[in-house]
Amino acid sequence: MTSAPELPTTYAPTAEFAAAANAGPELAERARADRLAFWAEQAERLHWDRKWTDVLDWSNAPVARWFTDGRLNVAYNCVDRHVREGRGDKVAIHFVGEPGDTRDLTYADLLAEISRAAHHFQSLGLVPGDRVAVYMPMIPEAIITMLACARLGLTHSVVFAGFSPAALRSRVDDAEARLVVTTDGQFRRGTPAGLKPAVDEALSAPGHTVENVLVVRRTGQDTPMTAGRDHWWHDTVERQPAEHTPESFDSEHPLFILYTSGTTGKPKGILHTSGGYLTQAAYTHHHVFDHKAGQDVYWCTADIGWVTGHTYIVYGPLANGATQVVYEGTPNSPDEHRHFDIIDRYGVSIYYTAPTLIRTFMKWGRQIPDAHDLSSLRVLGSVGEPINPEAWRWYREVIGHGDTPIVDTWWQTETGAIMISPLPGVTAAKPGAAQTPLPGISAQVVDEEGNPVVLGETEANGYLVLDQPWPSMLRGIWGDMERYQTTYWDRYAKQGWYFAGDGARLDPDGDLWVLGRVDDVMNVSGHRISTAEVESALVGHTGVAEAAVVGASDDTTGQGIVAFVILTATTENTGDTLVNELKAEVSREISPIARPREIHVVPELPKTRSGKIMRRLLRDVAEGRELGDTSTLVDPAVFTAIAEAKGD
Ligand code: PRX
Repeated sequence: MTSAPELPTTYAPTAEFAAAANAGPELAERARADRLAFWAEQAERLHWDRKWTDVLDWSNAPVARWFTDGRLNVAYNCVDRHVREGRGDKVAIHFVGEPGDTRDLTYADLLAEISRAAHHFQSLGLVPGDRVAVYMPMIPEAIITMLACARLGLTHSVVFAGFSPAALRSRVDDAEARLVVTTDGQFRRGTPAGLKPAVDEALSAPGHTVENVLVVRRTGQDTPMTAGRDHWWHDTVERQPAEHTPESFDSEHPLFILYTSGTTGKPKGILHTSGGYLTQAAYTHHHVFDHKAGQDVYWCTADIGWVTGHTYIVYGPLANGATQVVYEGTPNSPDEHRHFDIIDRYGVSIYYTAPTLIRTFMKWGRQIPDAHDLSSLRVLGSVGEPINPEAWRWYREVIGHGDTPIVDTWWQTETGAIMISPLPGVTAAKPGAAQTPLPGISAQVVDEEGNPVVLGETEANGYLVLDQPWPSMLRGIWGDMERYQTTYWDRYAKQGWYFAGDGARLDPDGDLWVLGRVDDVMNVSGHRISTAEVESALVGHTGVAEAAVVGASDDTTGQGIVAFVILTATTENTGDTLVNELKAEVSREISPIARPREIHVVPELPKTRSGKIMRRLLRDVAEGRELGDTSTLVDPAVFTAIAEAKGD
């Protein structure tokens, strides 16, 4: 009997790659020798109108001030600088629309568009510090809007265009946005669907702060406009002058708010500021992707509605003068060849995506990527969830022609930029592990009390903490600094560490593996969704008395949402009709990404004596595992009833 060939456990960089790489081993040495001097060196990547006095002021912990008293303009750094230095003709964005339309924008084009938008925003009376909500598909105007905000010191709050009117409204209200920028519609697998009607619905009830709605024409839908409030982009922005003088802002000036799910139903507005954020965005984009301006064609497949789109489509790549692809649609529109066709056509050399998409590609089969010339690829990235070793190897073998480094990048909306990742050209990569905190970043894996887990022969599991402040860290939760303190800092208050909410393990080599959330946050296709949010949408239905939601492992999406509901005594609506109605309700209330994979109608939910739902046990049920410890349950027999209802 022959055994299967052993797969390598590590993949060292080739000598050739290492010799030409941006990062070398000395990077970590420099950071270790003097962390703050190292970050000051990274901040020099940017153009500062006034230099900082202190690199870090941590006296008001846990609210950091990085590059104190420094002044800069973020948009100037992302665009004007490149034009002034003679790179205006370079393509910043190769835009590929879902219907197949394309548009190239050079840095000079981008500057003109941003200047026009900035003039228009000023004419609306917006002043630095005002908030602007951005609810748009992946089109250049979305990026232009974000950068026009940055240019004027307006704080943008991008809301993923797949979110419901209710989700948009709660974010607009929380941030007290004065302007909403949107489009008439967006393409969904070749079909135009309205988007502006969602804004109208969100703003239909009075009591909001929105004075203006600016609408980009994208799909040509019939779009009712509210006189005095709604304006077309082409009637306003496009008539403005193409030159605009930027002013400089404090390094700590708020740049954006981005809402993300927490353990309660109410999303948190994560606040990021300017100088430190842009420094780490630029530094990580340069080193983690080995990005070389003038040579690489970069493509991050995220949506600007998520933090990955903020940092690795807008701020990091543009600060570094990248040429990048921005694609509007889904990977299977018009067919499964779309991404590979784009890589081939534009000669994409750096490709950054999520494990869920890689697993989808695996399902579609290798004949699809094999039909294209992918030889331009030289660095592949992964983000959003743990990548299983099988998908990692497939990614390298099939997409990366067997020799491309893969960077498995761990970070969060809160961290603003990549924190833990192999460095291409330096790290011998291990499939499935994010491995090493980047130079300048400090992380630990600790137990409940904060003792570092001990390295031994076996693996050591614990919680991931960040034990030193970092430049792109969040500066708080918008309007709720108490929640900022309790969510991230109370758990290890004695030590003053940031609790990431992730479990992690250290292997005997000291490499770090991120295992996933340890709180009630699910990760579905790399999107963070709280169990409480989905439960609250379910109990919003008149037929539902109680609901409990868990994330169960899923071969493609990482986790899938499984809900258990108890019906009200009076409801007559049962069975499949009800389940489908409930699924639709969650899509409508939150977003299609939060739609449960399964909903089980059960007679009871497992509860502790203090009335807490035992989600851990429901996860066991959902994943078909033997039940864990049930001794704290009021009535262990509840599971017989649940199993019957589930049809096991
Ligand atoms: O659980 C971790 C997982 O995604 C969470 C952060 O989600 P979000 O704020 O939406 O940002 C996603 C994109 C940066 C983390 O707490 N996560 C992210 N990257 C990885 C990961 N888990 C394992 N490995 C990763 N590379």
